[in-house]
Amino acid sequence: MEQQRTFVLLKPDAVERRLVGELVQRLEQKDLDLVALKLMRVDKALAERHYAEHREKPFFKELIGFITRGPVVAMVVEGPQAITVVRQMMGATNPFQATAGTIRGDLGLDLTANLIHGSDSPESAKKEIERFFQAEELIAA
Ligand code: RTP
Ligand code: MG
Repeated sequence: MEQQRTFVLLKPDAVERRLVGELVQRLEQKDLDLVALKLMRVDKALAERHYAEHREKPFFKELIGFITRGPVVAMVVEGPQAITVVRQMMGATNPFQATAGTIRGDLGLDLTANLIHGSDSPESAKKEIERFFQAEELIAA
C-alpha cells in the first residue's frame, strides 16, 4: 500500500478544550506515524494562505478569526493512504452530520470550531506541509 504524508492541524478549540492528547492518541492508535509535531500560532497571513480557497465565502472572516485566536498543533502524519484515512477519521465538516466514531462526530458541535484539519489531496498535502514546516523539521519514522 502506498505510503502517504498528510498535514494535520489541531485547531484552537482542540487546544482550548484539552483534546490534543485525545486527538494525537486517535491517530497513533490507528497506527499512523508521526513525522512532525509542534505547538504554534497561526498569524493572519498564514491563515489567509491556508484557507485561500475560501476567500469569497461568507464565513471566511469568521474562519480566519477562529484559526488565529489561539495556539494550534501542526503535525505531519504518515501511513498507507494517510490522506484518505485521516479525512475519514475526522468525519464530515459539519459536526451535526459527522458520523459517531469520527473525531467531529464524537467531539464536535460547532461548524466553525470543528477541532481538526486534514489535507484533502496529495497536492494540498505537499503544499500545506511545505507551508507549515521546514524540511529539517520532518523526522523519518
Ligand atoms: P478543513 O479544510 O479545515 O480540513 O475542513 P474541511 O475540508 O472539512 O472543510 P472546508 O469546506 O475546507 O472548510 C474549511 C473550514 O471552514 C470552516 N467552515 N465554516 N460557517 C460555515 O459555514 C463554515 N463552513 C466551513 C470549518 O472550520 C471548516 O473546517
Ligand atoms: Mg478543507
